[in-house]
Amino acid sequence: MKFWLIFLFIIASFSAGAQDIIPRPNEYKQAEGFFKIPDAVSISCSDTGFSDLIPAFTASLKRYNLVAVIKKPKKGVIQILYNPIITEKEAYRLKIEPLQITVEAGSPAGCFYGLQSLVQLILNAGQSGQIACGIISDQPRFEWRGLMLDESRHFFGEAEVKKMLDLMALNKLNKFHWHLTDSPGWRIEIKQYPLLTTLGAKGNNSNPEAEAKFYTQKQITEIVQYAGQRFIEVIPEIDMPGHATAAARAYPEFNGGGSVKYPDFTFHPGKEGTYGFLTNILKEVALLFPSKYIHIGGDEVSYGNEQWSGFPEVQQLMKRENLKDLLGVEHYFLRRMADSIQKIGKTMIGWDEVVTANLATHPLVMWWRHDKPQMLDLAIKSGYEVILCPRIPLYFDFVQLDSHKSGREWAGKYAPIESVYDFPSEKFLGGISIATPLVKGIQANLWSETMHTSERLEFMTFPRLSALAEAAWSNQEIKNFSSFQKRMSGMKEIYKKSDVHFFDATIPERSKEIASPEEVKN
Ligand code: ACM
Repeated sequence: MKFWLIFLFIIASFSAGAQDIIPRPNEYKQAEGFFKIPDAVSISCSDTGFSDLIPAFTASLKRYNLVAVIKKPKKGVIQILYNPIITEKEAYRLKIEPLQITVEAGSPAGCFYGLQSLVQLILNAGQSGQIACGIISDQPRFEWRGLMLDESRHFFGEAEVKKMLDLMALNKLNKFHWHLTDSPGWRIEIKQYPLLTTLGAKGNNSNPEAEAKFYTQKQITEIVQYAGQRFIEVIPEIDMPGHATAAARAYPEFNGGGSVKYPDFTFHPGKEGTYGFLTNILKEVALLFPSKYIHIGGDEVSYGNEQWSGFPEVQQLMKRENLKDLLGVEHYFLRRMADSIQKIGKTMIGWDEVVTANLATHPLVMWWRHDKPQMLDLAIKSGYEVILCPRIPLYFDFVQLDSHKSGREWAGKYAPIESVYDFPSEKFLGGISIATPLVKGIQANLWSETMHTSERLEFMTFPRLSALAEAAWSNQEIKNFSSFQKRMSGMKEIYKKSDVHFFDATIPERSKEIASPEEVKN
């Protein structure tokens, strides 16, 4: 008898179970027994609406050397079922029985997430090839689970972006905010204004002479489609009226000047042509991205708008529109562009500066200034929908360990994985309650000033991305950092199989900082 108990314990400790999944499923009931993964897995699907999901699933299994055979419509070992009783958009049920695995959902997105959980279970089963029986009933805490990538400061390219999208999907993140334009380089082809990419795409944060790097419209379309197959919505950001140096280099007629530290930083708000130019750009952008959103930045304009007041066109504008100061001009600019976006049929997103711009239609607001919780408060009180992405702890260009030298800090604060995991606990919110449906979710931002290579980008992203994912998906009551750390052993194996350069203080070969050429910490 004793022998058998010990035997069972050993089997259990080497098999996979729902307790291994990241992000942690919100409901799980363990049952007796194990499902033994066969050498070749057969899959059947009850609903044609779900059958598109199978190729992505089998591709992920193939990547890890598992063969899947698709059977239609006969019953496979893995069965995918449409279940209209599951009404939440991203919810799923995953049932593991000794001879059968069933993934049920009321929507393709839910089904996709059920399959992502299953991919993790299969990969975590390791040598035992066993998955513990049980039922997972799961749905996300937040509808917006985002990651932003800045490809203006440094350009990473299609293969790296797809790798990121794969890992986002496995972690059930669903919004990819793509920061495609900023001062160092313009990274999206606009057919009507080719100089944006012949001239504007030259250079990066490390080398202003670097050859032009950008995405063609064809590449953008392909990446958007690739993301869509993984239930990731891609939201483009075209930053304005600040962070415009690359565009000003290409089309100096729309340059609104800058400051000593940030030369040629803004678009010219006093010229009517600027609004036409930017509207034409947004019209092309709108056609490439099926998302209902376009992000137009709106951040940090005061860093480089001091020359505005010297332009006669701006003086006339101020008089005509009764604008008292440069902040008034900035808000006028935002109102004009918000109007364009509405006419294009999209919804605007802006950084939290837009909250005071008095826009006719509420944009979605990204609260990023952790030192200004009053902006979060004002956004919520004014009825804006909000995404939480404060620098502390959700800017992944901040260091993750005190001893790391490359990357940012803010008055001694940085972004260790524990604090990412802990988000959005009260201590990060400056006393503002987020108990409102207006708060749609959370997002981490990868600003790439100090990310000069893909290796360094990955080092700053992983494993914090998995902590972000659990913070975004799993309900507060089931979050537990030490459980997360244990479950990360499976995810780290997946990172290794995916050739990810992740940081891990506990693994000697993963603990060394992949640094940027400069020490930053400011
Ligand atoms: C920002 O970090 N400037 C949004």
